[in-house]
Amino acid sequence: MKKRARFLGLSLILIGLMLAACGPSPTPTAMPTATPAVSPTPLPAEVMVVQGQTIYETAGCASCHGQDGEGLDGLGPALAGHSRAAVFQQVRDPRQVPEGDVQMPAYGSDQLSDEDLEKIVAWIESLGPPMGAGPFVGSMTETAHLRLALISLQAEGVDDAVAHLEDLVATAEGETREQAQSILDLLEQGELHDAEHELEIMLAEAEGGDLTEVQLHIVLALNALQGHNDEDAVRHIENAVGVASGGEKVQLEALLEDLRAGEAHDVEHELERLLGEEPHEL
Ligand code: HEC
Repeated sequence: MKKRARFLGLSLILIGLMLAACGPSPTPTAMPTATPAVSPTPLPAEVMVVQGQTIYETAGCASCHGQDGEGLDGLGPALAGHSRAAVFQQVRDPRQVPEGDVQMPAYGSDQLSDEDLEKIVAWIESLGPPMGAGPFVGSMTETAHLRLALISLQAEGVDDAVAHLEDLVATAEGETREQAQSILDLLEQGELHDAEHELEIMLAEAEGGDLTEVQLHIVLALNALQGHNDEDAVRHIENAVGVASGGEKVQLEALLEDLRAGEAHDVEHELERLLGEEPHEL
């Protein structure tokens, strides 16, 4: 009996020792928590950024976009604010520009691997938001003006784009007003492409991207009606009629007549319905 008890005691001590050696240590924080070295650990963000800048330079991007991605006059635009998707798209399959403009070369994955491009993206992301323009967080009306300005520019309707931007400069405040003004300045200098680009960046994350061109005009018409500016509303509905077709066009033409007949209130309701029931935050 005695012998057995001693044996048991010894065993317990032994087990205890073994547990102490390989079980949880008394100070759990001292336990190694790192994943085994065999699993590929992503590079720390800072390393990606530093390597990205080097690759950006050696790949020759800097010769057109500037050492710090600030953009070089007549060569390449500033890079801050470009999304990962935009970088991949442009590097693999650059937009064709009009003859006489600098054409960015395409980089195949044999010249620049996805892995390296990913690092360039990390570096571009580290540059922060674009100078001047940030993702636009204005009202639906402001978004509609910007979006219509962009649509006009894409259709080479510079005058319409200017009109929308001037409306914004007249009615918006703060940063939105400044951004609209800076885009107007670009248009005045004939920098249509840059203006278009600024608008794209501003609108990239704006709400209301799912609205059709007709609906964008309706947003503006509604806003005018709510501000009891029937004259502006007529103008915006006329614009909507101009781009609408089929039944929608017929409806809008009828609304135009109602409005001219002074039925502003009914028209407002009808427009809301056309916009998709629930009135949007204008
Ligand atoms: C020969 C000059 C040149 C080189 C080299 C060059 N780019 Fe460009 N890049 C341009 C020009 C010009 C544009 C503007 C294209 C346009 O107006 O559509 C541009 C546009 C871009 C854009 C913006 C695309 C957009 O959506 O507006 C990105 C991002 C970009 N380049 C990244 C790079 C990267 C990364 C490299 C290197 C791997 C590089 N570029 C090399 C000239 C260059």
